[in-house]
Amino acid sequence: MEKEYKRLMKRCISLAKKGMGRVSPNPLVGAIIFDDDFRIISEGYHQYYGGNHAERNAVLSAGEDLKGKSIIVNLEPCSHYGKTPPCADLIIEKGIKRVIAGLIDPNPKVAGKGIEKLKNAGIEVITGVCEEECLQLNKIFIKNQIKKAPYITIKTATTLDGKIASSSYNSKWITDEVSRNEVQKLRNQYDAVLTGSSTVIKDNPSLTCRLKNMRNPVRIILDTRLTVPFSSKVYNDDGTRVIVLTGENTPSNKIKACPKNIEIVKCPLKDNKINLNEAVKILYDMGIKSILAEAGAQVNKSIIEEKLADELIQFIAPKILGDKSAVSFVEGFRRNKIAECNNLNIVSTKVLKNDIMIVSRFSE
Ligand SMILES: NC(=O)c1ccc[n+]([C@@H]2O[C@H](COP(=O)([O-])OP(=O)(O)OC[C@H]3O[C@@H](n4cnc5c(N)ncnc54)[C@H](OP(=O)(O)O)[C@@H]3O)[C@@H](O)[C@H]2O)c1
Repeated sequence: MEKEYKRLMKRCISLAKKGMGRVSPNPLVGAIIFDDDFRIISEGYHQYYGGNHAERNAVLSAGEDLKGKSIIVNLEPCSHYGKTPPCADLIIEKGIKRVIAGLIDPNPKVAGKGIEKLKNAGIEVITGVCEEECLQLNKIFIKNQIKKAPYITIKTATTLDGKIASSSYNSKWITDEVSRNEVQKLRNQYDAVLTGSSTVIKDNPSLTCRLKNMRNPVRIILDTRLTVPFSSKVYNDDGTRVIVLTGENTPSNKIKACPKNIEIVKCPLKDNKINLNEAVKILYDMGIKSILAEAGAQVNKSIIEEKLADELIQFIAPKILGDKSAVSFVEGFRRNKIAECNNLNIVSTKVLKNDIMIVSRFSE
């Protein structure tokens, strides 16, 4: 039984992933309805923000009486009215006899209430199936619910000796096309991509997602004094939201001269740069629930020093620059001892065509 539940939960997780980039700030959810012989009757997933929840989509596509059937879902069914009516009520109404949930809702306001409602209606509830995978799937939603802050991932492409650019700021291309394709997929998964003024000036990146049927993330630029030329590709008016975080004392005439498609947001300063702690609060309130930082050494350093980073995704190419003055992926720390290092936990490693992709989590 347990083996079958795990198999179905893994299927739920892959269904849920189809909503990536489209359901934020909601969680990624997949649901499967099945009978006592583990025959799949129907499947559903949360497809876009404001759309039906996964359980409702699975019920709608069933086309048969669901009395006495089971439903498996990676997140506890909701018990409250949001944009759609409660899924727990729908499950009760359809006469479903068993609910298998991967994770209890992390939202303290609703945690456990859906399960309680189901149990009170005489439904058998099993929780904790593939809990780790379910946690990983909804890491963004969980951080948002618990910390009321965006989930922040630093993505970087380095040589074996940890360099992101040569001393003359040449960085094209450290990693190969397979790694760069992975980055395109990541851009689809995060609400926003963030970088520093220096990277925009030196590389002139587009920071768009160029994969078919995927959407562009919001582009966020840290530009303390508005020195980045407005002709830069990141400012192209392609219908995507572009946010520039600038210092609180940037003169209004400079702001007024900005193209209409750019949202300029004044932020408090810290050490003459954007105060990132304050900036992420502002961004969260502007609806940015997850950020992929694709920046240089200085911004990476600030994010890590301010303890804002949740995850690091490092693509390592089998190249050695060997130049002390080349740019490292993070610069500016003063650590005298190894014991003072930031310690991360490796979540996964993957060998791509020529490169390695390492995903690590920063400890709390
Ligand atoms: N291989 C890779 O993965 C990768 C990725 C990105 C970039 N790069 C390379 O990195 C190099 C640029 O690195 P970089 O360190 O000079 O650029 P960066 O970190 O992207 O940008 C730094 C600039 O951002 C602005 N900024 C505003 N608020 C900040 C804050 N709180 N903390 C830090 N910076 C803040 C500052 O300029 P103002 O105060 O004037 O605004 C600062 O000089 C380029 O050669 C690029 O090719 C490589």
